[in-house]
Amino acid sequence: MAEGSVERTLVLVKPDGVRRGLVGEIVGRLERKGLRIVAAKMLRIAPERAQRHYAEHQGKPFYPALIQHITSGPVVALALEGRSAVAVTRLLTGATNPQIAAPGTIRGDLALGLTPNLVHASDSPDAAARELALYFAPEELLPYARVGEEYF
Ligand code: CMP
Repeated sequence: MAEGSVERTLVLVKPDGVRRGLVGEIVGRLERKGLRIVAAKMLRIAPERAQRHYAEHQGKPFYPALIQHITSGPVVALALEGRSAVAVTRLLTGATNPQIAAPGTIRGDLALGLTPNLVHASDSPDAAARELALYFAPEELLPYARVGEEYF
């Protein structure tokens, strides 16, 4: 199998993760995997931004609860970089429903509820580009590999 290309993806530690004091645990798992944090910020998501983020889910039965939850307190937004970062981050995050997420994943080990499922992670490179732009200006993304350094 060919080595994946270097990608960027968006992760949100949702308000339940912040409230439960799991920011370090979640970010630590992603960092230890080898994903690089190229931007990070804590913010409270306004309803307008939440609606843009989750536009694809508008009209679904769980949409009101989703918007209510994601705007209910501060989140930590991360831009992560690495080979196949989108798929690798989704693997570490686990299935959307924590009740069936595999042990060893963030949701499988640490969450039980479907709406308070601790993290959001972009599901494709296109979604990642769109979602990263919702939370970070281009100049806020700070790659820290040295010029000429081999990417691992
Ligand atoms: P997230 O990865 O942030 O994307 C959409 C969110 O909607 C999802 O995580 C869940 O928190 C929430 N959600 C609630 N119910 C459902 C459902 N039945 N299917 C998918 N997502 C759901």
